[in-house]
Amino acid sequence: MDTDQAVPLGPGVHWVGALDPGLREFDVILKTANGTTYNAYCVRGSAGVAVIDTVKAEYADTFFAHLEQVARYDELTAIVLNHLEPDHTGALPELMRRAPQARLYISVKAQMMLKALLKSEALAYTPVGTGDTVSLGDRTLRFLNTPYLHWPDTQCTWLEEEGMLFSGDVFGCHFCDARLFNDRVGDFRFSFEYYYAHIMRPFREYVRDALDLIEPLELKLIAPAHGPILRDAPRAYVQRYRQLAAPQLHNEADRDKTLIVFYISSYGNTARMAQAVRDGAEEIDGVRASLYDLQGGEVTPFVDLIEEADGLAFGTPTINGDAVKPIWDLLSSLAVVKVSEKLGAAFGSYGWSGEGVNMVEDRLRGLKLRVPVKGVRVKLIPTEDELEKCRELGRELARHLTGRITRRVIDMAELLKEPSHAQG
Ligand code: FEO
Repeated sequence: MDTDQAVPLGPGVHWVGALDPGLREFDVILKTANGTTYNAYCVRGSAGVAVIDTVKAEYADTFFAHLEQVARYDELTAIVLNHLEPDHTGALPELMRRAPQARLYISVKAQMMLKALLKSEALAYTPVGTGDTVSLGDRTLRFLNTPYLHWPDTQCTWLEEEGMLFSGDVFGCHFCDARLFNDRVGDFRFSFEYYYAHIMRPFREYVRDALDLIEPLELKLIAPAHGPILRDAPRAYVQRYRQLAAPQLHNEADRDKTLIVFYISSYGNTARMAQAVRDGAEEIDGVRASLYDLQGGEVTPFVDLIEEADGLAFGTPTINGDAVKPIWDLLSSLAVVKVSEKLGAAFGSYGWSGEGVNMVEDRLRGLKLRVPVKGVRVKLIPTEDELEKCRELGRELARHLTGRITRRVIDMAELLKEPSHAQG
């Protein structure tokens, strides 16, 4: 495949993107062992020509060279942006300068981002949502609103007459192979799974919503914004997303709420506290509590457990004024799953100062967990009274999980009202 050229996907539909084989890290968090591609597309109809997405700024020259092979700038009627992250909008300002007559189509949620990106409030664009269409004459672009895959602004664009889905980052991966099509390139399964796990996994509820829109389509080809174009068995990739986005463990479908108690212990004191927290939680109907020693496991399966759990409690000793490394390692691995809205708690034994518990509570709040019960700190060996405090921590957490204690909502407007005169 000659990628010095625009590459046809079908009659009047071309890939006009760029290859970036030397990239080894994307957005700091992703490794890219053989680079990536920035896929952009051009669709020609009988009464209009659309460009769908652009490329990273450094690759603008390549993008324009490809685009000029299949369209003149004065022919462009539409610029569709499925996603405004700079790897897809780097060439946008120059494209708008070269084709000022082309109308921009973006999702409703992309509007503020577009203004921030272009540093202008005076922009002509059309916000679109699911079902909205743009006619190119004999061809129609139909939009699917697919927010949070993986930014709030993300959408997909469906070329009805050709059965082609321009999916943005969805179904994409960082895999650079000049042969471009999934039936021609090397084995990219690892990259596809890795990309899902790091980019889409935290938003799996939104993935399921998007799949509800995509599955009914008569798909002939999926054209993502990165990696191979999926023309062979495109529905297999949709099915794989459905599997990946499904609840993985039994508990999520259960009626019971799940509390996972993780701990690490130097002398067995924090371990005894963890057992007591678990025992207390188990006393409450409707809660299933589990206990895991961080020394006996690995981060990846623990992250899977955390994704499915409703509540999390962390037991840590304090050593040199800090919680211990295995706790921090686990807490720093949670960017790939959604933890906000779960309940959290901390507890632990200490020798001198005991800051570890408060530090873990702060971290949990930083991750947007709710920490409804103050943690239990015990100097050295827990007494029976202190173990009872741990059991009560478990019971309280369990009551919050089951809704037996609910968050008190304070109405500030009520609080600020003038006091009324008492009657009688
Ligand atoms: Fe490929 Fe989210 O940008």
